[in-house]
Amino acid sequence: MKELLVKAKEREYKVVIEKDFSLLSQKVKEVFGGKLAVVYDENTHALFSNEITQRLKDFQIFEIVFPAGENTKSLQSYAKLLSFLADNKFTRGDGILAVGGGVIGDLCGFVASSYMRGICYMSCPTTLLSCVDSSIGGKTAVNLPEGKNLVGAFYAPSLVYVSLSAFDSLPEREIECGMGEIVKYAFLDGSMTASDIKNGDREDLVLKSLKIKKKVVENDEFDRGERAKLNLGHTVGHAVESLSSYAYSHGLCVAKGIDKIIDISCKYYGYNDDKKGEFSALLNSYKFDLDIEFSTEEILEKITVDKKAETGAVNLVLIKDIANVEVVKLPFERIKELF
Ligand code: GLY
Repeated sequence: MKELLVKAKEREYKVVIEKDFSLLSQKVKEVFGGKLAVVYDENTHALFSNEITQRLKDFQIFEIVFPAGENTKSLQSYAKLLSFLADNKFTRGDGILAVGGGVIGDLCGFVASSYMRGICYMSCPTTLLSCVDSSIGGKTAVNLPEGKNLVGAFYAPSLVYVSLSAFDSLPEREIECGMGEIVKYAFLDGSMTASDIKNGDREDLVLKSLKIKKKVVENDEFDRGERAKLNLGHTVGHAVESLSSYAYSHGLCVAKGIDKIIDISCKYYGYNDDKKGEFSALLNSYKFDLDIEFSTEEILEKITVDKKAETGAVNLVLIKDIANVEVVKLPFERIKELF
């Protein structure tokens, strides 16, 4: 078992990394003693509810299951979960345990932040992506018909419990999804190397990723500066994701985005092929298919149209070196030259 302590403004919380759910009850008891709403999607319910119910038999639990998929991150689900808590007479001493990926985590975190002005929120991230990306840092949200994550709050969890065996049931695409973010962390901080990624020891990669993210979110919890570095590869990645109509996994798009950013960074900083080779070797330590079949024009249009309400410039996270990335504001014209 490994533990990390994350310091947020509201509270400090533990991230427990264990091979299975055997310590769940003990760890929940350390932070919480009320009634518990355990929230699943259909997939996580089928996979984990029997075991989790058994493990949490000392608690009074109330289960609710949402459809799997992004559509669940909606105002309708938000209202449904709030009403579920109210109907079951939840008070400020009660809490929510989210069992799922980013959709269930973001929904539950937002409900927990606002039900009775804030109740205890705990999560078991069951995808590699949600574990290394959204489980810590306190970002919670639901989508509006007008756009993703348009309503939400910063709200720190009280416990994050990672059962590594939960990832064993994931299809290859979901592993790739998490690996895109994990490789991103390797560029942010020298503590994760290409050989760590090649070795593929999941506990090690999860722990190192979470330590890197912890450092960033502790420095800039409310996303006013340094936290933007976590967007490495994401501006181009989101454009590719959207152009592919979400055929590619998010993590693969982030990796494709980082590949493009390596090109752009080398042009911007005037680096030679050796430096580029060093960056590419790190990215290629996981077997991503880095081809982008969309034209530069299509990608640029996507990026600039998405940002059109802003100032004619885009903030891109560039790689000055491994463990030294910087957010650079580039006017559209300059981006066109660098692409
Ligand atoms: N997923 C990026 C962040 O937590 O800021």
